[in-house]
Amino acid sequence: MTIALLGLGEMGSALAATLLAAGHPLTVWNRSPEKAEPLVAAGARLAESPEAAVRAAELVIVNVQGGAAAEKLLRAAGTALGGRTVVNLTDGPSEQAGVAADLVTGLGADYLHGQIMTVAPAIGSPDAVIFFGGPRQVFDRYEPVLRALGGRATHVSTDPAVPLLYGMAFHDIMWGLLNGFLHAAALLRDAGIPIGRYTEQAEPSLAALPSLFGLFAGEIDRAEFATPFGALKHHLPSIDDVIAESEARGIDIALPTYTRRLVADALVAGHGDDSYSRLVEHFGRRLGRA
Ligand SMILES: NC(=O)c1ccc[n+]([C@@H]2O[C@H](COP(=O)([O-])OP(=O)(O)OC[C@H]3O[C@@H](n4cnc5c(N)ncnc54)[C@H](OP(=O)(O)O)[C@@H]3O)[C@@H](O)[C@H]2O)c1
Repeated sequence: MTIALLGLGEMGSALAATLLAAGHPLTVWNRSPEKAEPLVAAGARLAESPEAAVRAAELVIVNVQGGAAAEKLLRAAGTALGGRTVVNLTDGPSEQAGVAADLVTGLGADYLHGQIMTVAPAIGSPDAVIFFGGPRQVFDRYEPVLRALGGRATHVSTDPAVPLLYGMAFHDIMWGLLNGFLHAAALLRDAGIPIGRYTEQAEPSLAALPSLFGLFAGEIDRAEFATPFGALKHHLPSIDDVIAESEARGIDIALPTYTRRLVADALVAGHGDDSYSRLVEHFGRRLGRA
């Protein structure tokens, strides 16, 4: 299958090398053309413009930094996109997927948006996860190529914005977990406890944490927060302990103080006997709304 790839940064170059290794005739374009040199040496053809690259291919993959840059390239390709399929692998706010989808379908092409969930060196591996959104039949048509880029390429929605939201959800979860871990590590380190010893000895309780995602997901989706154990009111004393211990050791208390505020607000709102998942409503408050 003839493929055009617009964008040869760290990720785009990895995508291009993988497509070439899979035997696809590949035309590439990059704003800074010198980045194409190793790929041209490996068999790619360098186009002079996004439009020329697109004309050479059935499938057009876009991977640049920022949705605005991707949109600019798609506009530059213009009517040359007609009859082709665009797979946009550029990260950005979810609304940019809708803007790009409208632009591309308006030019007579099919559109998928993808969210790459791995780093460049893992592109092409069987475990590499890439989420796709857009028409199912378009994903099905190109699935073999998409699977060559990520063995766990998955169609998650007909809405092209959903993969970007999945990507953000992952980062949101990751930062929350990592910040909690690092705050705890600062506390343990101050007490002279090796963090590796802690993670080894506490492994069973740490390993149980991800099981809460499934439990909470069910509670949130059903909007049923009643729980026979671990109710919100039982969290407050533990949070106060962490704050007091941190303060005594001169460790930053912003993170546990924020958690305390969420829990305290929930208790004031009468949710003390509910599951911790009830906090989704407190996170979900719009700014300025009581
Ligand atoms: N790197 C990763 O491991 C990774 C992982 C997951 C997702 N991603 C996503 O993949 C996309 C590309 O990331 P990257 O790591 O490859 O970034 P990068 O190495 O910084 O490369 C950025 C690419 O975007 C191009 N670009 C930037 N602004 C442009 C503009 N105004 N017009 C035309 N081209 C423009 C650059 O062209 P020049 O070469 O001319 O500067 C280059 O090809 C991003 O959405 C990123 O979030 C990357």
